[in-house]
Amino acid sequence: MIDFLYGALAFDDFPILAWRKAYSRALVQRQHRLYYEAPEGERMLREALAGYLRRARSLICHPDQVVIVHGSQQAIDLCARVLVDAKDRVLVEEPCYVMARRIFEAVGANVQEAPVDEQGLVSERLPERRSKLIYVTPSHQFPLGGVMPITRRKELLAWAERQQAWIVEDDYDGEFRYGMRPVDALQSVDDKGSVIYIGTFSKALSPQLRLGYLVLPDALVSVFREAKRLMDRHAPSLEQAALASLIVDGTYERHVRRCRRMNESRREALLRALDNHLPDAVEVMGSASGLHVVVWLLQVAKDDEAELVRVARKQGVGVRPISPLYASGDQHRARQCAGIILGYASLTPADIDEGVRRLVRAIQALG
Ligand SMILES: Cc1ncc(COP(=O)(O)O)c(C=O)c1O
Repeated sequence: MIDFLYGALAFDDFPILAWRKAYSRALVQRQHRLYYEAPEGERMLREALAGYLRRARSLICHPDQVVIVHGSQQAIDLCARVLVDAKDRVLVEEPCYVMARRIFEAVGANVQEAPVDEQGLVSERLPERRSKLIYVTPSHQFPLGGVMPITRRKELLAWAERQQAWIVEDDYDGEFRYGMRPVDALQSVDDKGSVIYIGTFSKALSPQLRLGYLVLPDALVSVFREAKRLMDRHAPSLEQAALASLIVDGTYERHVRRCRRMNESRREALLRALDNHLPDAVEVMGSASGLHVVVWLLQVAKDDEAELVRVARKQGVGVRPISPLYASGDQHRARQCAGIILGYASLTPADIDEGVRRLVRAIQALG
């Protein structure tokens, strides 16, 4: 099975030696004390992150604004628990990262969809109604891949100010932009303190580490620290210390650059394979950055999407349908054709080519 599983990374990309060394060092340094640490996380990691975010994402923050959490998932969960009450209006993108949408539904929010096009969230079409929070992926809309231009970013910030809404910026894969400098974080142009920035180590290191972070406006720092303490005290200290030392000595940034090169060649292999084996039969979206693309299969009817995924599996290739990421189906319906998400970060270029060949066989088998 060649699985285009979005979210999976290649095991060989993980910096095993550097991690082992850093972890052993942290273990030795920490042996004197076994007690709970502060809920916001290790000071050394928060300082290292503030420096890294300034260099990589033009994001200016003080280490006190950073709270280390168990991945973006916990960061979004904290935002929902702390900021949203039942029945509050929360806006999410359409289509959206389902794991985020579910969190807001779980706290009883009135979740509504905000329109998205090939440039990400269409901020000029946001409803002029009181909303508590909007969850967005401005640097690489999930899943369609649009990058919000500065005019839309400013429009979104102005909207948030009018509605007194919090903006949750999920910057899940901002490091992976190909052929261009990564776009700056939305947080870096917010001068009103309404953006809550979320980052993760799930894309550049491993989703199993369960490490991510929030960069909070000053006004939210103490309540989020307290919420994190109540939730699970704090993120694991040894892992935080190991990570901090990798950022401080430059290993982490070298590693990110290497991963970017690896993923760029995987992405090229995928685009080439789609072009070679399915010429004129696909429209590819969101390939300028990230670790996945959306592929619209122009000759496969939307109603055949689920069947295609099933037949593809039989042909030995794993692909995921786009439909479940739409809450209303309206925008998707407008297209009429099937769409799939192809994650490529765990595959070799050769597997990617073979995977696309199998996908072609599945489309042919569908008739
Ligand atoms: C939009 C989005 N946000 C966040 C994440 C990462 O989540 P976590 O940091 O909880 O592993 C993903 C991973 O697939 C994602 O697609």
